Amino acid sequence: MKSIRLLAASKYVIGYNCLADCGTDHAKLPIYCVENNFVKKAYASDNKIGPLENAIKSIKAANLEGKVFPVLAEGLGYLISEIDVVSILGMGGRLIVSILEEANLIDVKRLILIANSENSILRDFLEKNNWKIDVEELIKEKGKYYQLMVLAKGSMKLSAIEKEFGPLIIKDKSEAFIEMIDKFIKKLTKAKQHAKSADVIIEIDERLKILKEVIS
Ligand SMILES: C[S@@+](CC[C@H](N)C(=O)[O-])C[C@H]1O[C@@H](n2cnc3c(N)ncnc32)[C@H](O)[C@@H]1O
Repeated sequence: MKSIRLLAASKYVIGYNCLADCGTDHAKLPIYCVENNFVKKAYASDNKIGPLENAIKSIKAANLEGKVFPVLAEGLGYLISEIDVVSILGMGGRLIVSILEEANLIDVKRLILIANSENSILRDFLEKNNWKIDVEELIKEKGKYYQLMVLAKGSMKLSAIEKEFGPLIIKDKSEAFIEMIDKFIKKLTKAKQHAKSADVIIEIDERLKILKEVIS
């Protein structure tokens, strides 16, 4: 499996029993996790026929029928008690929230999430619904930055900036994180030079202050 994102996510499945990968498309993550004995069994679900057909083909090609099960389903409506770890990767934060809101997560012990956007909305929901961040990684793939988060049941209290970038990502101050924030700072500094109203300049300065603080 080539995807840095999916490889990073796969290691957090180790030690669990059965994975449900929601929005699986080609089922790369569940196939990799079962092939490498990270879990005994996995469900690979998608709500669209095309991606599910991709998943079915990949499962057949990997000879994993009977261990990786394709499911055509909206969100996580199919969860059963044997599923103890859930992954949702490569969707917007708002969509991930709507899937989690509808799901019965009573038997799920771990969530592995990577939102393409709207991380604040996602972390805000997780905080309000008794999930606690155990691990975070900032991943750079093909020039884009992705926030990987791993959650267990529990409580947490996050500030606005922690919701946006992740409490552990901020603490870690990885090379990728510093690089990402530096890019934001450069972009904003350029925007400030072209700003025409005093209000916009004040707004940009406030944001620049926060960004500089977060990497200091
Ligand atoms: C961009 S792909 C991500 C594929 C893979 N998880 C990854 O990260 O590389 C998003 C997938 O989520 C599926 N999807 C979108 N909304 C969904 C929903 N409500 N329930 C299940 N699957 C959904 C799409 O059909 C698509 O195959």
